[in-house]
Amino acid sequence: RTASLTIDPAFSVAPVHRHTFGSFVEHLGRCVYTGIYEPDHATADEDGFRKDVLELTRELGVSLVRYPGGNFVSGYRWEDGVGPVEQRPRRLDLAWHSLETNEFGLGEFVRWAGKAAVEPLMAVNLGTRGVQEAVDLLEYSNVASGTRLAELRRSHGADAPFGFRAWCLGNEMDGPWQIGHKTAREYGRLAAETARAMRMVQPDLELVACGSSSSSMPTFGNWEREVLQECYDLVDHISCHAYYEETDGDVASFLASAVDMDHFVDSVTATADAVGAALHSRKRINISFDEWNVWYQTRFNSAEPPRDWPFAPRLLEDVYSVTDAVVVGGLLISLLRHSDRVALACQAQLVNVIGPIMTEPGGTAWRQTIFHPFALTSRLAAGEVLRVETTAPEMETARFGPVTIVDAAATYDVGLGRLALFLVNRSVDGPVEVSVDLRSVNPEAVAESVSLYDADRHAANTADQPDRVVPKHNDSVRLDGGRATVTLPPISWTAVEFV
Ligand code: AHR
Repeated sequence: RTASLTIDPAFSVAPVHRHTFGSFVEHLGRCVYTGIYEPDHATADEDGFRKDVLELTRELGVSLVRYPGGNFVSGYRWEDGVGPVEQRPRRLDLAWHSLETNEFGLGEFVRWAGKAAVEPLMAVNLGTRGVQEAVDLLEYSNVASGTRLAELRRSHGADAPFGFRAWCLGNEMDGPWQIGHKTAREYGRLAAETARAMRMVQPDLELVACGSSSSSMPTFGNWEREVLQECYDLVDHISCHAYYEETDGDVASFLASAVDMDHFVDSVTATADAVGAALHSRKRINISFDEWNVWYQTRFNSAEPPRDWPFAPRLLEDVYSVTDAVVVGGLLISLLRHSDRVALACQAQLVNVIGPIMTEPGGTAWRQTIFHPFALTSRLAAGEVLRVETTAPEMETARFGPVTIVDAAATYDVGLGRLALFLVNRSVDGPVEVSVDLRSVNPEAVAESVSLYDADRHAANTADQPDRVVPKHNDSVRLDGGRATVTLPPISWTAVEFV
């Protein structure tokens, strides 16, 4: 089978946003405790942060990290996580039926983020709390000095303000599972008043209103419309959350998950633009895709919730396969393709909890299969995202009808003369030879070409075999007179860099 792509720098979508490569650290399971933080670990630094995890986080190419939740934030009191550690309260974490010791809190996160070289995306609790607590957290974090809460932060050893710019106004408030779940109107009003007050403290904040927890929510569409009708002028972005998994052996639909992500983004931008038009506003609301990944949610939902409030239990520790990594690569292609409207995105989550990085308490840290497409896309995507004209055979899927076998995105950095091409072959039963018309760029050479695939599509990395699945050099790439060809193995993700 063959496919053909045409790439032209004239087809620019938008600049590559570094914030497309965000991640997420929630107080959930072992993401914080024995994930990023484990004071007794052999690699722990003076703050108790695992250096092996810090190194992998930097290698992953993460730009931004959302914190502290997730469902967790909707019952969280930020004051519990500041000040002398020995005085911090132990609390029930209702969201995950766990014990929260608060040994790790705001100051620890800020120090960790500095070492990981990531920007924080903070979330405020709009489940059990409201305007005042959000403003207090902002004052504690961002006011330099001279107020009670700014001085409290300084007394806790943080002389310089944290300078958080980006904030999520709550989390998944459309979900009946959320502590303090609300209707769209109730939440929209609260988001508006919280945003208004936060902007009184600091006008230049970047604020994210909660959109839908998934495009299959019964309220999807109406939720975004009603929320934005309440807070359009006061926020910058609306969130999208999406998790994908292979169900009932339907691998074809699973491999086409990016079709759903495309549709999700297109629907939410259309809804936001319709609200803007009705308000006669020239402002445009963009998307914060601040939770996305493969997550075997059906497995999680059928497991018993933890009993007796355990500390740092093993929760949502999905082990990812080659197929999962190909889907993650495809979702990154979708996010890049929508760089004109997706301002930031966070893969959920970073470590252990549906994460690209896994650890054993007291043991090693390793890269899951999904680590590789994320790290390579983050490293190679630069300059402008280009629209890729694609002609490819189609395959039938139960969920999305016919979809193209090949999906692709490209980025071009004119200054550095680097063109990166990201491709997936969603076909389960054969390779595809792709010809790429690059004459308007006319690169001279292939700098790098790698593919992620395996004869066993279920192959995964584990503590015993941490490098069972790694990207392999793709030696099929040919470049001649501005035209390239590359062969994509079945169920594969590929990155090629031309210079
Ligand atoms: O990422 C895991 C959970 O998924 C988050 O806490 C929640 O926001 C979402 O439902």
